[in-house]
Amino acid sequence: FLRRPLIAGNWKMNMDHRQGITLLQKTVWTLQDANFTFDRVEVAVFPPFTDLRGVQTLVAGDDLPVAYGGQDLSPADEGAYTGDISGAFLKALGCEFVLVGHSERRTLHGEGDDVALAKVQAALRHGLVPVLCVGESLEVRQAGTHVAHTLGQLSAVIGQLDAATVANLVVAYEPVWAIGTGEVAGPADAQEMCAALREAVRASHGDEAAEGLRLLYGGSVKAANVAAIMAEVDVDGVLVGGASLDAGEFANIARFE
Ligand code: G3H
Repeated sequence: FLRRPLIAGNWKMNMDHRQGITLLQKTVWTLQDANFTFDRVEVAVFPPFTDLRGVQTLVAGDDLPVAYGGQDLSPADEGAYTGDISGAFLKALGCEFVLVGHSERRTLHGEGDDVALAKVQAALRHGLVPVLCVGESLEVRQAGTHVAHTLGQLSAVIGQLDAATVANLVVAYEPVWAIGTGEVAGPADAQEMCAALREAVRASHGDEAAEGLRLLYGGSVKAANVAAIMAEVDVDGVLVGGASLDAGEFANIARFE
């Protein structure tokens, strides 16, 4: 692999803090029993905010070789923002990553590219690696403008970032029509978009940024389809929703080879 693969589990609004601990323990034990090489493949989970303290205690206490992050953050650092969570708080809980602009945030909370940019900038201020989610709806896919649409979401954010920052970014391509629907974009669709994203980065920020950036595919990833997706040259990992809630299934996804 040119880049360290990243297998990420987005628990969404599932798993309270007790269930979350059990799920994470089971997932890691399953991988350890299978002699999984954590050095080669990075495993990360994105639990609900209320789970993060417990996850931190477990990961630090048992020295688990997994990373974790928040599912969202505020564009602001602190203050009168009822219900929001600062990137500073995530960092203080040991988060390495944070999701930004997930399609469920874009759709259900009306977050546009301007909000995604402000959140990416907040994440960077607090030393978190943003996982910027992009991707088209079914309507856009059917209109045939999915590449332009998704590149637009990317450039709205990275247009404001320097090359060194972009090189460390993670971008997840998630076609909205493939999320939680059982409908998985074919490996060729994932590759088409990831290649287009990488070439756009090369054009705007140069080779180092293009070769450093990690690109994930997300949308109905399962153990049964992950190998073909990961075999694509521009796909560096997967962002898994539903299947990350089953320890055995998620462990098998992480062991994609
Ligand atoms: O963040 C994860 C994606 O939204 C994919 O979800 O694997 O349940 O389709 P899914």
